[in-house]
Amino acid sequence: MDFFEVLTTRKTIRKYKPGLPPVSDIQKIIDAGRLAPSATNSQNWEFIAIYNPDIKKEMFEAVTDAYDRICELETTEENKNKLNMYKYYSGFFVKAPVVIAIVEKERKSFISAILRENNYPEEEIALMRPNSSLLSIGAAVENMSLAAHALGYGTCWLCAPIVAYKKFKEILHIDEKSKIVSLLTVGLPENNNSKSPPKKLLSEVMKILA
Ligand SMILES: Cc1cc2nc3c(=O)[nH]c(=O)nc-3n(C[C@H](O)[C@H](O)[C@H](O)COP(=O)(O)O)c2cc1C
Repeated sequence: MDFFEVLTTRKTIRKYKPGLPPVSDIQKIIDAGRLAPSATNSQNWEFIAIYNPDIKKEMFEAVTDAYDRICELETTEENKNKLNMYKYYSGFFVKAPVVIAIVEKERKSFISAILRENNYPEEEIALMRPNSSLLSIGAAVENMSLAAHALGYGTCWLCAPIVAYKKFKEILHIDEKSKIVSLLTVGLPENNNSKSPPKKLLSEVMKILA
């Protein structure tokens, strides 16, 4: 596929055929993440490819527990129904052949530190200093997702399971200073009939200031 075909035909895939992608393909996918741009070339990421079904199950149970706890919180019936839907979107990774855990390594911004030392309010710092660490990781995840698609795999990028971040860190032995920020599932698509939700038109999202 040419690059624009990869770009326009990629879609989220949540159901997979049985069978494990070979490690060499997962390496190619993660390598595409490695090559992504990052703020000050910090490359503040680590990618953990999980094949082990017991580890996936332990992570799934952690997500179920976390959502059960959220469901016990005071909220509307409508929100409770939405939470039940989220449970599916958070837990299907357990059936994916490979799950790549995306880890954000600590990255200190010296400019934010200067602003903090000079009593700038945190909300102002957040606006002046967009989260370039997380933005860099987004670039890596998208690279991996496109590379996987080019190799014939389907992926889904997940953030909803991160409600169980504490347990994930224990299960995956992630160090104190790093955060787990996303999962990326990888597997051969069960079928190719699923449709992406509609995208906004270019004219809705683009402005030209001539
Ligand atoms: C940062 C991010 C987080 C996402 N988290 C989830 C998730 O937790 N569960 C899920 O099923 N899909 C998740 N998705 C997939 C989106 O639902 C999907 O990309 C969107 O509906 C557009 O569909 P498409 O990828 O087919 O274009 C996430 C996507 C992104 C970019």
